[in-house]
Amino acid sequence: MIKKGIILAGGMGTRMSPLTKAVNKQLLPIYDKPLIYYPLSILMLAKIRDILIIVNKGQLDQYKKLFPERKNLGINVVFKEQDKPRGLPDAFILGEKFINNSNIAMILGDNFFYGQNLSKLLTECARLKHGAKIVLHSVKKPHLFGVAKINYKSKNILKIIEKPKKFISNYAITGLYFFDNKVVNYAKKLKPSKRGELEIIDLINQYKKTKKLSAEFIGRGGAWLDTGSISDYYKTSAFVQAVENRQGFKIACLEEIALLNKWINKKDIKDAISFYGNCEYSSYLKKLIQ
Ligand code: DAU
Repeated sequence: MIKKGIILAGGMGTRMSPLTKAVNKQLLPIYDKPLIYYPLSILMLAKIRDILIIVNKGQLDQYKKLFPERKNLGINVVFKEQDKPRGLPDAFILGEKFINNSNIAMILGDNFFYGQNLSKLLTECARLKHGAKIVLHSVKKPHLFGVAKINYKSKNILKIIEKPKKFISNYAITGLYFFDNKVVNYAKKLKPSKRGELEIIDLINQYKKTKKLSAEFIGRGGAWLDTGSISDYYKTSAFVQAVENRQGFKIACLEEIALLNKWINKKDIKDAISFYGNCEYSSYLKKLIQ
């Protein structure tokens, strides 16, 4: 099982300025919690407890307020600063020490996933021993993402392209990746693309070349939403609000996931309640232990 995960939560957030002038994009709210809770919940649902969060240089203090030495999540969170956005594969170079000789999951800090059977899919992906696994989801506007052309019958990946100008497929490559330990060396050997960044597609292609690339699919019942722009933020917030207020369950309540995973107990939930103070999130936590 993959036991370590990276959340890439740096980037300049330029598209969302001035909102991101003083606050890291991943700390802005998606309805009732900071965006970072959602990708973190995904790693926790994959039963990953050792987590590296990569943040922008100068923004570490903001994260430390949200994640001080908190024992009450049942996970180990460490941080690393990225001094400038060098591209997604930079995560594996910055994270080399953290990764050590393990396999690794990576999720982009601005990715939101929701749906039935998601936990099952995630634990399945975390079983990866060799090679790489990407997670695909059908989208209406594939030119905005990394895209995979697949053989529908065999589910083999035929081609992957970053933001293709010409249509090749509706399957977007989501920002959730699972790699074996070779990823660190592959990342180190990459050369920046024309736009001056290391490209995740080039990294994934290393695995494709050696026929070590596989894919999981989030079906029509699942949602993968992007929070790349201000309007996407509001759409995702509205989605969370609609689901939570209808069902009475919270999406990405970290303490609830930790409790269900049996990583924490009632006392930890009480500690979390005093950490958050008197708020709606705390009321939800109180109900969990009643
Ligand atoms: O969301 C899925 C898409 O994410 C994939 O389909 C694409 O293949 C992949 O390249 C990526 O595309 P984006 O255009 O969304 O990447 P962006 O540069 O916006 O970065 C995504 C997140 O990663 C964002 O929260 C900022 C963070 N980031 C990005 C870079 C380049 C970093 O923390 N450091 C970086 O160096």
